[in-house]
Amino acid sequence: MTIDAAPKPATRASSLPAQPRAFSGIQPSGVTHLGNDLGAIRNYVALQNRGAAEGFETIYCIVDYHALTSVHDPDRLRRQTLEMAASLIALGLDPDKCMLFVQSHRPEVTELCWLLNTVTPVGWLQRTPTYKEKRQTQPEDVNHGLLTYPVLQAADIVIYKASLVPIGKDQAPHLELSREIVRAFNARYGETFPEPHAVYTEAPVVLGTDGVRKMSKSVGNTIDILAEPDVIRKQIMSMVTDTQRILRSDPGRPEVCNVCQMHRHFGDDYEEIWDGERTARTGCVDTKKLLAQRIIDHYAPAREAYRELIADPVRLHRILDEGAERIRPIAEATMAEVRERMGLR
Ligand code: TRP
Repeated sequence: MTIDAAPKPATRASSLPAQPRAFSGIQPSGVTHLGNDLGAIRNYVALQNRGAAEGFETIYCIVDYHALTSVHDPDRLRRQTLEMAASLIALGLDPDKCMLFVQSHRPEVTELCWLLNTVTPVGWLQRTPTYKEKRQTQPEDVNHGLLTYPVLQAADIVIYKASLVPIGKDQAPHLELSREIVRAFNARYGETFPEPHAVYTEAPVVLGTDGVRKMSKSVGNTIDILAEPDVIRKQIMSMVTDTQRILRSDPGRPEVCNVCQMHRHFGDDYEEIWDGERTARTGCVDTKKLLAQRIIDHYAPAREAYRELIADPVRLHRILDEGAERIRPIAEATMAEVRERMGLR
């Protein structure tokens, strides 16, 4: 886990928290896949445990308001939100150690988004890579929510005055924008928010089974770690490996083989596995079978936990409601301060 720069101690103004506080948001994309875990959730769990040991708070939010910029089916949004909550808990988020909640359960953040909109030049938002990308991928629906998406993301972070943000590398431009928005706000209204810093994982971008694109549900190239073992096996056996290795006797190139790269995360012996590929002692099929078995075994307890959680929506809702209640005082205190600074009360 690396932090892009040491957070400044909050000595300049009394309204900044003395302890660092961590916040991250995750899209309600349903049941999680390998890319979610390696790219984000492992990092959340590590930071949650560090926070519990060192005495700082960690807050995790399932961002359903953000999802509305692309998901328009209410039943699907509700279902995927619960599936994501169950996945996060099954994979190690512990509601006793962190605060886990659903974004729309604390609607104050939309007020803060509006207020931050008024310090954010529209040019910054038009230049955001994800906005440009969405204009290409959903040209029939370039809604204003897509443009202001990073402002809502900044509001998510700063309403809790969080200074540590565990994210994947793909979120770097959004985080940079959050920092600019914080600077713009602080410059106009006085030191109010700490500048957030990224906490990157070791596996920032996980490629999908096609070996080319980032693993994502919308692309359909996922490894569904919480699914039945047969499903996982099938997905892994279909993975694209080193495309230049045609014959079983050809030497493999582990540096470009996605299956070999994934072995890094499931065992200390990946160098040996790579060596077997390089010397053609082992073939792609062997390496895939081994990966499948390791992933199936590694996630067996999480798979069981997920099954129990998703079968008990009452319990899940209670956990999420409690999370939203626990963070209420922080959100309310920030909003009172911000309204005061901006001349609203
Ligand atoms: N945009 C992030 C993503 O798509 C999700 C997100 C929303 C987020 N608000 C956040 C991440 C605040 C970090 C901090 O993954």
